[in-house]
Amino acid sequence: MKIAVALGTRPEIIKCSPLIRELEARGADYFIIHSNQHYSYELDRVFMEELKLPEPKYNLHAGSGSHSEQTGKIMLGVEKAFEKEKPAVVLVQGDTNTVLAAALAAYKLGVFIGHVEAGLRSFDRRMPEEANRVIVDHLSDYLFAPTEAAKKNLLGEGIGGHALITARGSFTPKILVTGNTSVDATLQNIKLAEESRPNTLEDYCLKRDGYYLVTAHRAENVDDAAVFKELLAAFGEVAKGKPVLYPIHPRSRKRMEEFRLKAPKGVKLVEPPGYLEFLLLEKNASCILTDSGGLQEEACTLGVPCVVLRKSSDRPESIEAGAAALGGVEAKGILAAFEKIKNAKSWKNPYGDGHAARRIVGEVLKWKP
Ligand code: UD1
Ligand code: UDP
Repeated sequence: MKIAVALGTRPEIIKCSPLIRELEARGADYFIIHSNQHYSYELDRVFMEELKLPEPKYNLHAGSGSHSEQTGKIMLGVEKAFEKEKPAVVLVQGDTNTVLAAALAAYKLGVFIGHVEAGLRSFDRRMPEEANRVIVDHLSDYLFAPTEAAKKNLLGEGIGGHALITARGSFTPKILVTGNTSVDATLQNIKLAEESRPNTLEDYCLKRDGYYLVTAHRAENVDDAAVFKELLAAFGEVAKGKPVLYPIHPRSRKRMEEFRLKAPKGVKLVEPPGYLEFLLLEKNASCILTDSGGLQEEACTLGVPCVVLRKSSDRPESIEAGAAALGGVEAKGILAAFEKIKNAKSWKNPYGDGHAARRIVGEVLKWKP
């Protein structure tokens, strides 16, 4: 049974890496198809290199563009590749345009879809990712929900039951709760990061627990000048306590220039580091303020408190565990959430035990599509 792994952006490369390692370890017949939705070195190749991932068999060179342009290009590329390769199954991870496009193309060719990180919902329809994951969850044959809460979201939308036939001829449930592969990736790579990037803090002129780490790149945040201004104002206030490091996504960099926004005093903008350095910057920060999905999970796994820069979170588990506080997108709310959470210390990681990829690949290899 041939398996395709479709990916295209920074978080997908990182979160698919444990799946790819597991497929390799089990000698599975698989190939990687990369949309190249992300193409800049610091959003793409750096991760393939650091994580020592095999070269994708297909690169669709989709690049940037409007949602339809990007989605359309990827669909056409996936269709062509799948017609040639005839995979039985495609694995997609998350909620990007690459995931939507690959799932749609696969569905129409009768290729089984396994959605990794299924069932996340922010219930905020302004987010392009919300549309993507709702559609992909409904198209998918198999749903790998990271948590029980994600499974509940799926069941609430009528997704569930028994559907798949395994190699033994029996049906299996459509939803499997696995944990999030981001935990696998974090645990697999933090030691490697410590060993191979021992000077990271010095390189950034930082000290353990002596700074805050922020990221913000969500379209509904940084594409709106008023919201982006509020976020920067909040970062400036936070920086009065300890310096703030902001590795800035190209989307946000572009918007800052367009809106003529400046980083406030104490907030240092840097190019996005690779994953290994970034893990260390997360682990050693006093607190993380972010609108990133992956960072919310990683902060929780690494024991660092987190302020969520969104109106609603699709990772309520962090908040329920006492690891994160919802800040919204206004400076006042962000600062209140920061005060509430900044000294939080220990919690049980709700995102899994680091063996999600083993469960997912083990399950896929039982299928008989
Ligand atoms: C995409 C995902 C988002 C995810 C994020 C991870 C969608 C709808 N959004 O958002 O869910 O959280 O990736 O980082 O799929 N750019 C570059 N170099 C690149 C890629 C992009 O400079 O390699 C710039 C371009 O100006 C581009 C902009 O960033 O127009 C946005 O890129 P795009 O892929 O459309 O969305 P992201 O914001 O990266
Ligand atoms: N990341 C990184 N360098 C950075 C910012 C993020 O390596 O400068 C990693 C981070 O560790 C996480 C992933 O990228 O694994 C998160 O990606 P992003 O925030 O772009 O996407 P999201 O998770 O919000 O979809």
